[in-house]
Amino acid sequence: MKEELDLIRAKCLNCEKCELSKSRTNVVFSDGVPNHKIMLIGEAPGYWEDQKGIPFVGKAGQLLDKIFASVGFTRNDIYICNTIKCRPPENRNPLPEEKEACFNYLKAQIDILKPKIILVCGNVALNTMLPEERGITRARGKWFDGPYGSKMMPIFHPSYLLRNDARTKGSPKWLMWQDIQEIRREYDKLS
Ligand code: URA
Repeated sequence: MKEELDLIRAKCLNCEKCELSKSRTNVVFSDGVPNHKIMLIGEAPGYWEDQKGIPFVGKAGQLLDKIFASVGFTRNDIYICNTIKCRPPENRNPLPEEKEACFNYLKAQIDILKPKIILVCGNVALNTMLPEERGITRARGKWFDGPYGSKMMPIFHPSYLLRNDARTKGSPKWLMWQDIQEIRREYDKLS
């Protein structure tokens, strides 16, 4: 599994399939330990991810780590990657042609890992993995059938939670807390 991923990573690091390759500092391929249990798919690298070549290391990533830690997960448990491997300028939404150019890398990551649980983090990942679903607010917290018999759950993006700080019942942060506990329960059922 690791060797196969390393081959794809090497290809990805030299990728020039779209314009983002011209403005990137680093390709951001993945973090966490490759495993067959659980994978998180985010949106695209931001400033700090582009600087360091590692997904979710900025403010949103720090919140994501806290959310994981609240149910006892670390980056050693979850393989983390993004829909788009290079930073879009000014963190704009990726263009359709950029998504298309990058899709085969994400597909390869899924094909190699065949994770049993896939966390679909935010609208960009949702539009890629579940294009028929109409937005993260409706889709979050539900299990959907994913590739290779996996269970996929859309979850809010941590950047959204940074902008919506309330923790009252029904707030985005409160909903995320419900979702991560449900994810942990499902993870604990895996052998
Ligand atoms: N947001 C994402 O979706 N991915 C990252 O790697 C960082 C921020």
